[in-house]
Amino acid sequence: MTKLLILNWKMNPATLKEALSLAKASDYKNVVVAPPFPFLEEVGKVLKKSRLGAQDLFYEEKGAFTGEVSAKELKSVRVKYVIIGHSERRHKFDETDEMVAKKMKAAAENKLIPVLCVGETIEEKNAGKKEAVIERQLKIGLFLYPRPYTLNPFIVAYEPVWAIGTGNPETPESALETIKYIRKILNAKPYTLNPKILYGGSVDSRNLRDYLKYKEVDGALVGGASLKKEEVKKMISYV
Ligand code: 13P
Repeated sequence: MTKLLILNWKMNPATLKEALSLAKASDYKNVVVAPPFPFLEEVGKVLKKSRLGAQDLFYEEKGAFTGEVSAKELKSVRVKYVIIGHSERRHKFDETDEMVAKKMKAAAENKLIPVLCVGETIEEKNAGKKEAVIERQLKIGLFLYPRPYTLNPFIVAYEPVWAIGTGNPETPESALETIKYIRKILNAKPYTLNPKILYGGSVDSRNLRDYLKYKEVDGALVGGASLKKEEVKKMISYV
């Protein structure tokens, strides 16, 4: 199966000019580029091979929600994918599992492909709660509201919080085990869901192949390394 690389720029770069230059260097098949909201439309225009992703959305359709962006607004600038429940949203902006579920619903209803992020903190890991946390995030995120997941595609990204931006990635073996665990949950009756499952957390051109070599790992969600053109060029050659 082809592997997928999602490039999450987070709150970078500072200018549209830099964003367009980085987008041009990232325009390959099997790649999703997720720039900040203000750059989405213009970045979308320069992407010929890769797909456009957003880093978040708000679950209401429209109205008095200052600062928020709806699924329909994203669709109107040709966004195809949307990252939901990223650990930075959960932990720096207090997003709850219920909010994540509402966002997943809004994305699915508007035929955006949601990328549901799950992952444990270091405290949860050390307390032996990793599996329970991931199971809770998956089940609430996906199943709190009935929706057409059997019809619409979605993606899961396993990103241990402690591995994000630290240069301290989860080992490929352990990431593989967790991804198998996620798949087991999604395949247990009554569910028969078979999404792509990605790994994220300090992935770069030196370690990407160590994850992708497993058939169970469908790709990677990359933060810091996605901002460096040389890194992007190398990583793209592996997907
Ligand atoms: P880093 O690749 O910088 O660790 O970030 C990972 C991430 O959060 C991608 O969404």
